[in-house]
Amino acid sequence: MKDSPYLKRTSGDKALSSHAHAPSGEGGHPRILSAYDDPGTHEEITRRKFMANATLTIGGLIGLGLAIPIVGSLIPDLSGAGATWTALDDTGWKELQSATDKAVKIDINLKSKDAYLPEQSMPQSVWGIKVKDESKFKTSRTDLFPPPAHKDDLPYQIVNLGFVIFSPICPHLGCFYQYNSDANKFQCPCHGSQFDAEGTHIAGPAARGLDPLPLREQSGTAEIEWIRYEPTIPERLVISYTS
Ligand code: FES
Repeated sequence: MKDSPYLKRTSGDKALSSHAHAPSGEGGHPRILSAYDDPGTHEEITRRKFMANATLTIGGLIGLGLAIPIVGSLIPDLSGAGATWTALDDTGWKELQSATDKAVKIDINLKSKDAYLPEQSMPQSVWGIKVKDESKFKTSRTDLFPPPAHKDDLPYQIVNLGFVIFSPICPHLGCFYQYNSDANKFQCPCHGSQFDAEGTHIAGPAARGLDPLPLREQSGTAEIEWIRYEPTIPERLVISYTS
């Protein structure tokens, strides 16, 4: 029997068939055909469709699985295992309570947990401001209280106990900004971003205002939750609860 250049397997593993004649290639030689040239039997078409659908379904499920943590990371979890409340230094907290219109730097001892290392603590500090007029604050911090409703854009109370605590990390690229008491504004030494006394972005490359941190009072101690947000973008996307 003559070999056909166009063979395909069937359940009986036989060489086929009327549609199996190879078209001529260059020089009159039969062209070698690939699997894509073979339309296949009804069963094969059905199997291919099933495989394609299964691949799409599995890909969709994997995509959904990846999307859920990303969406979830937009929402700070104040009650779960990720949340770590850290006490504000008492001296700094008292200074903030008696402050008038100046920002106050408050020390904290940030604890870090790691499954493989003993607990460590690192000296850190945050900035606090006293909010005398909450509705004015909400109107000027449109990145936190979007108009027209000026409702909190974050799932925690930004102004609490009459204060707002800011992360000391510049939302541009993560440097530590400073407070210029004479100008009553925050300034970042790295690329010149500036923020007014309420943390509103007023100059430089930062894409948003200063990031507020959750504040609470527990048994007479003021505490904050440390949150590190993704830099450079206008939205607040949580990337970590540790330093
Ligand atoms: S890191 Fe602050 S302006 Fe760039």
